[in-house]
Amino acid sequence: MAFFKKKKQNAQHPRVLPEHIGIIMDGNGRWAKKRKLPRSAGHNAGGKVFRTISRYCSDIGIKYLTVYAFSTENWKRPKDEIDALMKLFKDYLEEALRDFKDDSIVVRFIGDKSPFSDELRALMIENEEGSKDRDGMVLNIAMNYGSRDELVRAVKLISQGVKNGEIDINSIDEDLVSSNLYTSGQPDPDLIIRPSGEYRISNFMLWQSAYTEFVIMNKLWPDFTTDDLDEAINIFNSRNRRFGGV
Ligand code: FPP
Repeated sequence: MAFFKKKKQNAQHPRVLPEHIGIIMDGNGRWAKKRKLPRSAGHNAGGKVFRTISRYCSDIGIKYLTVYAFSTENWKRPKDEIDALMKLFKDYLEEALRDFKDDSIVVRFIGDKSPFSDELRALMIENEEGSKDRDGMVLNIAMNYGSRDELVRAVKLISQGVKNGEIDINSIDEDLVSSNLYTSGQPDPDLIIRPSGEYRISNFMLWQSAYTEFVIMNKLWPDFTTDDLDEAINIFNSRNRRFGGV
């Protein structure tokens, strides 16, 4: 873990920077409702905050950021809301391709890409391919992601390996399961932040969060600021992580 680079740090007790942060970007709908706006306006505002916070995390030296943008359960939402979200994803990905060429951020998608439109899927792949050789923060955008779905997929991949004689059943261990998740090769999140005051994990990184510190914040995602992120990192620093030890 790196030390936190902000000016506020106390030289004697420098803050530790989480290596991997996960964010459940929640509260867009309530933010819009409070303003008598359509839910899509909340997602647009949330999309802007997503960009600010991603940039900020990259600037302060976070190595991995995973944001929950669309879950396997979100397809149950009304069609107009889903259409608005798909348009937002498309606009963002086109812009990311066009404008962020010099950016060092590596963009990855975690989740099953198959239900998305051909156009959106192509943009996802283009962003992944175009950024894979960069050396900056890895930004995992969880889209059509569900942690149970991810675990079922891992079980299938491992079972296939056993069936083909490539995996000995006695060699199945935690590392093998981890390496069959979408986040293969990445460290588990140290900190997961959930804005909007909800105390739920909502099918996000269930396996990876076994020892993660959770910070719940009473701010709706479109109101979330870089100061809130700093506050979450401060709260993380006040925790005593024992990983099951004493
Ligand atoms: C949950 O809030 C939020 C979502 C389902 C969508 C999150 C998407 C974004 C913030 C846009 C990100 C953009 C890109 C390009 C990755 P909610 O709608 O469930 O809010 P509510 O609980 O207040 O109804």
